[in-house]
Amino acid sequence: MAESMKGLKRTHRCTEVTKADIGKTVTLMGWVQKRRNLGSLIFVDLRDRSGLMQIVFDENDIGSEGFEKAGSVRNEFVLAVVGRVEQRSGAVNEKMATGELEVRAAALRVLAEAETPPFPIEENSQTREELRLKYRFLDLRRPDIQRNLMVKSRVATLSRNFMAEQGFLEIETPMLGKSTPEGARDYLVPSRIYPGSFFALPQSPQLFKQLLMCSGYDRYFQIARCFRDEDLRADRQPEFTQMDMELSFVDIDDVIEVNEKLLKYLWKEILDIDLQTPFRRMTWKEAMNRFGSDKPDLRFGMELHDVSDTVKGCGFGVFTGAIENGGSVRGINVKGQAGMPRKKIDALTDFVKGYGLKGLAYLSIQPDGTYKSSFAKFMTEEELKALSAAMEGEPGDLLLFAADKNKLACETMGALRCELARRLELIDPKKFEFLWVVEFPLLEYSEEEGRFTAMHHPFTMPMEEDLKFIDTDPGSVRAKAYDIVLNGCEIGGGSVRIHQNDIQEKMFECLGFTKEQAQEQFSFLLNAFKYGVPPHAGLAYGLDRVVMLMLGLDSIRDVIAFPKVKDSSCLMTQAPAPVDKKQLEELGITFK
Ligand code: AMO
Ligand code: AMP
Repeated sequence: MAESMKGLKRTHRCTEVTKADIGKTVTLMGWVQKRRNLGSLIFVDLRDRSGLMQIVFDENDIGSEGFEKAGSVRNEFVLAVVGRVEQRSGAVNEKMATGELEVRAAALRVLAEAETPPFPIEENSQTREELRLKYRFLDLRRPDIQRNLMVKSRVATLSRNFMAEQGFLEIETPMLGKSTPEGARDYLVPSRIYPGSFFALPQSPQLFKQLLMCSGYDRYFQIARCFRDEDLRADRQPEFTQMDMELSFVDIDDVIEVNEKLLKYLWKEILDIDLQTPFRRMTWKEAMNRFGSDKPDLRFGMELHDVSDTVKGCGFGVFTGAIENGGSVRGINVKGQAGMPRKKIDALTDFVKGYGLKGLAYLSIQPDGTYKSSFAKFMTEEELKALSAAMEGEPGDLLLFAADKNKLACETMGALRCELARRLELIDPKKFEFLWVVEFPLLEYSEEEGRFTAMHHPFTMPMEEDLKFIDTDPGSVRAKAYDIVLNGCEIGGGSVRIHQNDIQEKMFECLGFTKEQAQEQFSFLLNAFKYGVPPHAGLAYGLDRVVMLMLGLDSIRDVIAFPKVKDSSCLMTQAPAPVDKKQLEELGITFK
């Protein structure tokens, strides 16, 4: 039976009790982690969000009724315990923050009973994730998840304080709005008043924050929920949180400076790590060429080599064919892996085939300097030597090559590089490698749509020195856009925005918008720009990703209280769900 807590007041959380409290009477409230009956003594580990405290029930202290009650509590019962703090009588528990202490109970109330949970509430749960997410309210009791959410809360609080100190104003922007141009699918909300019309949930506050700059707010920031209907991955959720900012009268370096300060501050406060600033910067082109990725993981080497020039005249048709078709040959040197068994190389070949590459050529340099290779028979000894030298190959190394169109060859080898680093455990999980990737292409040609699309969004400013190519060679124009990358993950991105009418018009023209279409979609922004727009720039972090990486976690779900699964549904609430016929009628919605 559940008792009331009337007359009792919690004095401490479990691990707030310290040695200095020995001899004092405290009142603790929490959940039963474990109970052990040792005849004349009963031990209960009591848990709250701070951690555990051992409670000792002795019939001499608590009386026979209390002792009996203590003997009947089970895991996850909610208790209130009044007792005296003592030095632990038995063995000290090194694993517990309060391992040297215990509380001798003088009074006990059972505030709530509990059914046996479907899985144990414990750190590093082995329970499969589907079950944990179905009972997320129980999963959230686990200490590791609780710690993650506490860190996330601190990151938000510290960021708010930091941004306020830097002169940023926190301003909310609407959830019910019009489609935003971030390039994912929108979540739509039907309007009751205007049947057939829809609000779109924001993919980001992008247009509103630019309007705030037009309105003179100067420095804006917001911890904003964003919605994107896209395929989920370990680092993506359909709703996620951005730490979003926009600044007026600034250029790239100003944005970078504020953000390096912010990240330095967060890492110091939360992890006590001194990040070295300025962070490295790399152009998009260099990142693609050296790492086959626009978000390179710099915690390990194994860089890509372009060996096209070395192999262009050789007898291996796979290589020369790719080069003749305008592509290239890219290799990576997997140090010390010459002995990799054929089976494993075949598995890597399957891996690259998943990216659309037709095969993976290998050259393994044996300790005696001879070669084992899938293509050596097509090359002369000289050619093999030259190739090996171009790859900085030494006896014992395994060289892997992709030959195809530049983009596919680079991206595939970039992915293979990361996959190998994981398989060979080359990554130091304690490292934090930050990198600014800059000078992204402004436009990206979409084969599907047969036109250029904006790589970031249509309001991103081209680099001034490239403006002259915008008519003749739009694909070569670089943008004043930047991403902040940490350990191979894009944690944030932004750009300097266009604030000149003629450039914006040109941009729409490149993107294949007619004047009318541009006006229709973005009229409020374009109108605002007519009335005095300051130069402005901004950036947004994926807050969930920042916290995930900060804590060295692999899944964004571990830092979100109620996440969705792969098909974007919620296993706990069963959302999305059908709605009442009446609701649909009110909205004027029928289904085909
Ligand atoms: P962008 O689209 O790059 O830029 O988004 C900014 C950051 O948000 C995070 N992010 C996500 N996190 C979790 N789940 C998702 N589905 C998801 N999508 C994005 C990433 C990303 O770097 N308005 C611009 C910013 C600007 O230009 O100021 C924007 O939204 O970490
Ligand atoms: P094949 O002549 O198709 O048997 O290929 C010979 C070797 O080249 C095999 O090891 C293939 O995996 C490899 N290979 C095939 N296509 C490519 C490609 N596009 N890039 C790199 N290696 C390839």
